Amino acid sequence: MKRAIYPGSFDPVTLGHLDIIKRSAKIFDEVIVGVLNNNSKTPLFPVENRVKMLEEVVKDIPNVKVMSFEGLLVDFAKKLDAQVIVRGLRAVTDFEYELQMSQTNMVLDQEIDTIFFTTCLEYSYLSSSTVKEAAFYGADISSFVPESVIHQVYDKIKEKKENRNE
Ligand code: PNS
Repeated sequence: MKRAIYPGSFDPVTLGHLDIIKRSAKIFDEVIVGVLNNNSKTPLFPVENRVKMLEEVVKDIPNVKVMSFEGLLVDFAKKLDAQVIVRGLRAVTDFEYELQMSQTNMVLDQEIDTIFFTTCLEYSYLSSSTVKEAAFYGADISSFVPESVIHQVYDKIKEKKENRNE
């Protein structure tokens, strides 16, 4: 049984993330999407929302599960008996950070390997940060995130703007 973890912030999940999930689900028996619950970052969406949005978009892929995690990724992987960490590589700008992270994880736990998927060209420019920025200024984000996520991003940004003006 080959179980992989696809970790990330997913704030929010993009079509690029979904592409990596679908492709990894074809290769591994089970893929756990691990949503980082990190108190030091201030995400747009609380972790419960990010998990729910992901559950909705992967509901038709039977071998994909979504879970949140805190602390070290290698500890989460070990707990779930996952042998592989999956990450997407968009461009050379991702490389340094991803290499550092995978090598750190390798030193922390030699039993767990990182496998990189190069993103398809269609999504190579895409990131959760640019989605949030585009939505903040009212741009159409339907080419960037799954359909069920679109209105949630606009609603959350509206809510944040309203809270700021109070
Ligand atoms: O989507 P992101 O924010 O690029 O994902 C980063 C993530 C969640 C993979 C990374 O921050 C992570 O694994 N955090 C858990 C803490 C950890 O294990 N750090 C040591 C590896 S450098």
